[in-house]
Formats: sequence, C-alpha cells, structure tokens
Amino acid sequence: MTVLVLGGAGYIGSHTVDTLINDGYDVAVVDNLITGHTAAVNQKARLYIGDVRDKDFMRNVFQQEDIEGVVHFAAFSVVPESMKLPLKYFDNNITGMINVLEVMNEFDVKNIVFSSSAATYGEPKQVPIKETDPQVPTNPYGESKLTMEKMMHWADVAHGIKFVALRYFNVAGAKPDGSIGEDHNPETHLVPIILQVASGKRQKLQIFGDDYPTPDGTNVRDYVHVLDLADAHVLALKYLAAGNDSDAFNLGSATGFSNLEILEAARKATGKEIPSEMAPRRPGDPSTLIAASDKARKVLGWSPKYDDVEAIIATAWKWTTTHPEGYPQN
Ligand code: UFG
Repeated sequence: MTVLVLGGAGYIGSHTVDTLINDGYDVAVVDNLITGHTAAVNQKARLYIGDVRDKDFMRNVFQQEDIEGVVHFAAFSVVPESMKLPLKYFDNNITGMINVLEVMNEFDVKNIVFSSSAATYGEPKQVPIKETDPQVPTNPYGESKLTMEKMMHWADVAHGIKFVALRYFNVAGAKPDGSIGEDHNPETHLVPIILQVASGKRQKLQIFGDDYPTPDGTNVRDYVHVLDLADAHVLALKYLAAGNDSDAFNLGSATGFSNLEILEAARKATGKEIPSEMAPRRPGDPSTLIAASDKARKVLGWSPKYDDVEAIIATAWKWTTTHPEGYPQN
C-alpha cells in the first residue's frame, strides 16, 4: 500500500515524503512543480508531475497506485499574495480539494491528512489558541484553508472520508544534513529572509512593525521545526489507519518568539551581524500567534524534538550555506 503525497515537492511536503520513506512507507508524489522542486523529492518516491485540478490526471494516478491514504499539501500559501489575487487562491486550493475528494471517493480511499493553517483562526481573541477557538480568517489564504477543512467535514458526513486537519503555526528549519530545505521564489518568510541577509544575498532585514502590543513591539510567532511537523503527519496517518474519527490539531511549540528575538537567535546561529531596520507594519499581520498544541501531543502522541529556536535556525542555515542558489532548475 502507498501513501500519496500531494504537493510532495514543496518545502513541508518534501520533508514529509523523506520522513515517510525513512519510516518504511511506500510513497507516490503528485506535484505541478509551480512552487515545488524535482530535486527535493526523495528518489525512492514515484513523482507524478501534474495538477490536482486535472481530474483525469488524478484518476490516472489513483489507477496506477494502490493508495491507502492521502497527505494533501498542494496549495498556494503566501498570505500577502492572496490579498491581491484571492481568486487564484480559491481556484487552486478549493477546486483542487473538490477534485481530490471526488477522486478519493471514486477510488474508495478513505483517509486524508490535510495541511491546514493557523491562518484559519484570524486575529485570535486569546493566546494560546485552542482548536475549539473561533475560526475567522483575515485573508483569502486562511479562508481557502478553512473552506477546505469544511469540505472535508461534509465529505466525511456523506462519504465516510476521514480527515485530520493539521493547523501549522510558523514552520522553519531543514533536514539537519542539509540535503533538503526551503526554497521559495520570491521568499516571504522571516527565517529564510534573515538567512538571505546573513549569506549576503540581501542587504538588510526589514522588520515589519515595532508598535504591536507585545513585549518588544514586534510580532510574536510560534515556531516548529519542519521535521517535527513531518512526524505529526505520519502520526496522523497512523491515527486514521487505526479507525479514529476526523479531527483537527494545532502544531506549534506553545512558546512565542518576537521578530527581534528571532533575529537575535539567527545572529547567534550564524555568527553573522545581519543588518536590520524597522519598517511599517505589513497589512494583515496578527500581533501574536501562539498555539496550544497539547491536543496533538495527547491524542496523536506527537513529541516535537526541537524546542530551541536557535537550533531550528541552525538547520536552515546549514541548507542555506550548502545550497546558496537553492535547488537546481526542475
Ligand atoms: N517579517 C518581517 N520581515 C520580513 C518577513 C517577515 O518582519 O521580511 C515578519 C512578519 O511581519 C511577521 C513575522 O515576520 O511578523 C513572520 O512572518 P512570516 O511571513 O514568516 O510568517 P507569517 O506569520 O505571516 O505566516 C506564516 C505562514 C502562513 C501561516 C502563518 C500562521 O506563512 O501560511 O504563518 O502563523 F498561516
């Protein structure tokens, strides 16, 4: 039996594929390579290049593989872009999910692990955020992920397709041996941008806002190592294979770090000065996002190995220094 990873050539997808293979799973990957990289996919996985919105292509993959479960990462995920191009996000993310669930239903595949997001909560009324807290997204990206969660719920009610929605907070780091890592173009996330400055690819870091109601005035976020996230997907697959009910879990560390604290940790991890300047707030940034993730620990048995943000950044630095140009062209 095979696990089908949709979006398995992307940052989190490729780390999860690698973890699944190291845990003994047989893996097939679907990726349209819009943001993914062929070189990121573990060579033991079978890569099908195509789009989840293409139903005939998806049917063909399901015909060729004996699929026991689906892990779904295939979505656009850049919040500021989603504010400018909401329909692009709804088309890819929501149309994609319709096809995935329809084809799963046709082929009687009953388990899906879904890459959801803290962005489904919007501006929290309280932190740490619990899974039962209101989901009121403040951008089209978060709205698309929330809609995808709801679609899975109704597909469960009607067709018995069981799902686990994993709501990630801020993901960072890379496989510690430096063989795979994060490579987005353009890069928008804090840690890789800081490391671009550290490696001389970018002149300075702009810190978006220092007048938030946080201890040092900059935004506070909850960071998780990408391999800890990958482990959670394996545990979620096992949870579903054991016949458990559909559910949603936050994945975070329950600890918040401000943007200035991340910068300081990166200076230590890299030994570089990393020039920075204050810049205006970025529209749509919530002040503080911290996850309550005891449910994932209790129910899934998740036990993240990285609890030190400097160690997380050090693994991303290893990738950056060993791959200054990122992945080769597809
Ligand atoms: N930031 C800067 N300068 C930069 C880039 C980012 O100051 O050049 C700041 C942002 O303003 C924010 C923090 O760094 O305060 C983190 O920003 P990221 O873009 O790295 O991450 P976000 O918190 O905006 O979003 C990420 C994912 C989303 C997910 C969200 C949930 O990109 O998909 O985490 O917490 F929904």
